[in-house]
Amino acid sequence: MAKTKLKVSAIKDGTVIDHIHTENLFKVINILGLDKIKNQVTFGMNLESKKIGGKAIIKISNKFFEQEEINKIAMLAPNANLNVIRDYEVVEKKIVEIPDQIVGIAKCFNPKCISNFEHMDSMFTVVSKNPLEVKCHYCEKINTKEQLIIK
Ligand code: CTP
Repeated sequence: MAKTKLKVSAIKDGTVIDHIHTENLFKVINILGLDKIKNQVTFGMNLESKKIGGKAIIKISNKFFEQEEINKIAMLAPNANLNVIRDYEVVEKKIVEIPDQIVGIAKCFNPKCISNFEHMDSMFTVVSKNPLEVKCHYCEKINTKEQLIIK
């Protein structure tokens, strides 16, 4: 697509996160800490997409993520791809992968779990990636993707 027709302007250097479902946009912003950084961040939501209905896109100037940081959004945006931009060109495309451990993002479904009472980061070990099943580090209950609550 010609750059002049982009809904959200092209960036010179940085990262473009594409194919996020609009309803997850602000959670992704939160998880990546984009609400606290000084870099220029632009985003669009409810954009037309052939792959997903109503997608969102985030463009972060002069920010390049480590794979570990990217993986934090895997539960929310499993189909997201990250485009690394240098001097206006896409030089790399990265995909998100479910990490082996999920820390502080999700809430254990077990109402009696200590992680829901104390001020502590929740912690899960991933026992299956597809379908997603994780084991709570504290109460050892298995949470399915449907049971997990993303904070
Ligand atoms: N992009 C950008 N600034 C640039 C170059 C690209 O914001 N200087 C954005 C594009 O708008 C697009 C994404 O980065 O949203 C990926 O660019 P590109 O690979 O050229 O687009 P597509 O071929 O449409 O990629 P895909 O099919 O993977 O979405």
